[in-house]
Amino acid sequence: MKIATIGAGYVGLVTGVCFADLGHEVICVDVMEDKVEKINEGISPIYERDLDYMLKKNVGKRLIATTDLEYAVKNSEISFICVGTPSRDDGRINLDYIREASRDVGKSLRDLGYHLVVVKSSVVPGTTENLIIPEIEKYSGKNAGNDFGICVNPEFLREGLAAEDTLNPDRIIIGEFDKKSGDILFNLYKKNFNCPILRTNLRTAEMIKYASNNFLATKISFINEISNICQKLDIDVYEVARGMGLDHRIGPHFLNAGVGFGGSCLPKDLKAMIKLSHDLGYEPKLLNSVLEINEKQKLKVIEIAKSIMDLNKKTVTILGLAFKPGTDDIRESPAITIVDKLLKENCKIKAYDPKAMENFEKINKKIYYANSVDDALKDSDLCIILTEWDEFRDIYDKILRMKNPRVIDGRRTLDGKKAMKLGIEYFSIY
Ligand code: UGA
Repeated sequence: MKIATIGAGYVGLVTGVCFADLGHEVICVDVMEDKVEKINEGISPIYERDLDYMLKKNVGKRLIATTDLEYAVKNSEISFICVGTPSRDDGRINLDYIREASRDVGKSLRDLGYHLVVVKSSVVPGTTENLIIPEIEKYSGKNAGNDFGICVNPEFLREGLAAEDTLNPDRIIIGEFDKKSGDILFNLYKKNFNCPILRTNLRTAEMIKYASNNFLATKISFINEISNICQKLDIDVYEVARGMGLDHRIGPHFLNAGVGFGGSCLPKDLKAMIKLSHDLGYEPKLLNSVLEINEKQKLKVIEIAKSIMDLNKKTVTILGLAFKPGTDDIRESPAITIVDKLLKENCKIKAYDPKAMENFEKINKKIYYANSVDDALKDSDLCIILTEWDEFRDIYDKILRMKNPRVIDGRRTLDGKKAMKLGIEYFSIY
């Protein structure tokens, strides 16, 4: 099929590249010219495993990028809206890009035949019905259902594994305005994927996305709470999680205790659902606690550091700035809060991350960015691990070269027992 993806961020670019790889003709649209240029040169503007290779394979053949949204819509049968919905200061999502995209899609549909519009961006329940459809209808002069189709099709890809998740999904959710719209999208997916496909209405599909991310966040805060209780009883929470995870009703995933969840999705979707609940006159007590536990979890690193030493004028090494391994993304990374707090304690910070230093430097120029783990540990009084990159898993020798080998492990990156046996002072927050 001929497909347009509007917005070439994580979701749009990965969706576009994956559809192209499956043999469809794809036009990726973005307002940023440099991004479009890079894509057309076969260079992915984001760091994501497999994406560069897949992009290079398809660009110029089945995939092109453009800033011309009208051209993309007019030369395709389905347009996927994939623009960002970042958090506003009050926790609600910023719908400016969605409004703009809906308006521009609407204008492009004016003198076009039937076209299917699919909302892939994460939008709170009701947004497609209350904002996107009215905008498209207003600017196209057409009616949803008759002249154009509309579906909500949330994505469940994880950063770092984006292409793999897109090509091997657990499920596909299709929220449909009407049967014809749903049939077109169903047929597109049915040909290429054999996972369960759930067809539902628009607002239910929107809610499935939020409920899924809120549940994952709940699992993490749950295990962090259990971990805080375990610590007082000298119980290893990772062993507890292993035991729990063997129950198929619980499952082994998302039960890793640590410095809490970050990223552009889990915190944002949680805040948006809390705000939506308030707007609806409901107090979401569980979701409030999930967020609160997560905020407190980051501060535990500082509490431990303070209990070990007087932090004033000490040199602290931070290993890991990305919100998780496999990405250069630092959005809502626990490292942001922890570095800020350490700077307030008058520490000198030396940081190292295999991918995320460039992005971190854009928001923090007060710390030293090292060129290796060794460089970061040189003359350091304390090492704090905040992202479980593989590169940090076997650094015992390097830590032992510190004048006082001392680590706070925020993500169970090292084997604590081994570290202690080797003579490293090992602390974990779980
Ligand atoms: C998340 C969801 O997992 C995806 O399904 C969803 O599509 C995506 O958001 C989105 O809405 O776009 P992502 O933000 O890429 O994906 O990252 P996750 O792998 O979910 O990790 C989020 C955070 O939780 C990370 O900081 C990670 O370190 C932390 N985490 C994860 C834990 O602290 N413990 C765990 O057991 C698992």
